Amino acid sequence: MSDPKKLFVKTYGCQMNVYDSERMAGALATRGYETTEDMAEADMILLNTCHIREKAAEKVYSELGRLKPLKAAKPDLRIGVAGCVAQAEGAEIMRRQPLVDLVVGPQAYHRLPEMDDAVQQGERALDTDFPQEDKFDHLPAARGPKASRAPTAFLTVQEGCDKFCAFCVVPYTRGAEVSRPVARLLAEAEDLVDRGVAEITLLGQNVNAFHGAGPGGDWSLSRLIRKLAEIDGLKRIRFTTSHPNNMDDDLIAAHGEIEKLMPYLHLPVQSGSDTVLKAMNRRHTADEYLRLLDRIRAARPDIALSGDFIVGFPGETEADFEATLDLVDRVRYAQAYSFKYSARPGTPAAEREEVDENVKSERLARLQEKLTAHQQDFQHSMVGRTLPVLLEKPGREDGQLVGRSPYLQAVHLLADASQIGEIVDVRIVATQRNSLSAETI
Ligand code: 5AD
Ligand code: SF4
Repeated sequence: MSDPKKLFVKTYGCQMNVYDSERMAGALATRGYETTEDMAEADMILLNTCHIREKAAEKVYSELGRLKPLKAAKPDLRIGVAGCVAQAEGAEIMRRQPLVDLVVGPQAYHRLPEMDDAVQQGERALDTDFPQEDKFDHLPAARGPKASRAPTAFLTVQEGCDKFCAFCVVPYTRGAEVSRPVARLLAEAEDLVDRGVAEITLLGQNVNAFHGAGPGGDWSLSRLIRKLAEIDGLKRIRFTTSHPNNMDDDLIAAHGEIEKLMPYLHLPVQSGSDTVLKAMNRRHTADEYLRLLDRIRAARPDIALSGDFIVGFPGETEADFEATLDLVDRVRYAQAYSFKYSARPGTPAAEREEVDENVKSERLARLQEKLTAHQQDFQHSMVGRTLPVLLEKPGREDGQLVGRSPYLQAVHLLADASQIGEIVDVRIVATQRNSLSAETI
């Protein structure tokens, strides 16, 4: 038997992509590929790209440029581009970079094995179609020894988005909102738990718009969560990413009622200015968002909130920006992601006049200073507390494990590797910039 072929996947961007990378590896395992962490020994290199960051496409081209010597040394090396950049500019990538053998969009990962066959025959393969069939029907679930050991897993419950925020490519690259059927999700969740998974994060670009077909009609996300909470071995449930307008009453109530639903919510607002929110087509005001958070905090007072922000959206004035700072001061996020606006070709906002680059940079710095201060306050408020931590994997130092608090903070502590997968009560003794240190009790 020949040695297994090696697959190296470089993943950019969101958790959806991390999950998709696992599934692509699963699909290619049917053609004898094993994953490797070492790009140099790879027989196939896949770049699983994200369109959200600035100059995403340019970064993909420069990454591809860096692969040239590898391909020169190993002519059989296959190079593929997947993810949202592949979806958006597939043909252009093929044209500009002759070393690319295959380009595959997020809706076509189940066709990777056949695409690999085509490359084997000396062809170049491009698939960025939106098929009618359910891609989830074809992909083997993420499995294998690695998956069965990890105590946390992602489960995609919906894909795509119908919201059409003026800055965002998702409705174009990932397509219309599609929810997966409830029976499939429950079966996959049970399977994950059977293989040792203690925490499941439900994923979707617009996860709380979930409306999967189930017994008695379409199920909401909260109904799905309530059902998942009945699975014995499942200890923790999370979900991401949500849109404020889809936080319905029952989902809010669930945060107070379901112990397994972790007290952490990523709920992007993007801006604190009503004018900008309107221009972004977010379809709610800053005040409506704040009142929504009041209701969520009433249901679950200790909930840790996280958000996304865009500064320098076309037309954003200094006063608009200050409204964002003001909103941030009111909310005091535990965690946040902030970006300078950058035009995405094909989106409505890309046609509008841009804010000066220096102004954007200066606003981003001011916003991040505030967000970081609040995040540090949140971290410091944990010192001296006892928290249940799900031990996930070995830490950087010998004898150390890393786990997660209910609030999604990374927690380091000395513990034996045999405890991976357990939830232990620990005392938080110190904070670093992005993590907590703890002692077992
Ligand atoms: N420019 C800057 N940030 C963007 N995001 C999405 N599109 C853009 C864009 N064109 C940010 C939003 C979103 C997050 C995933 O990425 O804040 O919530
Ligand atoms: Fe993009 Fe999210 Fe808006 Fe959908 S809701 S268009 S994914 S930013």
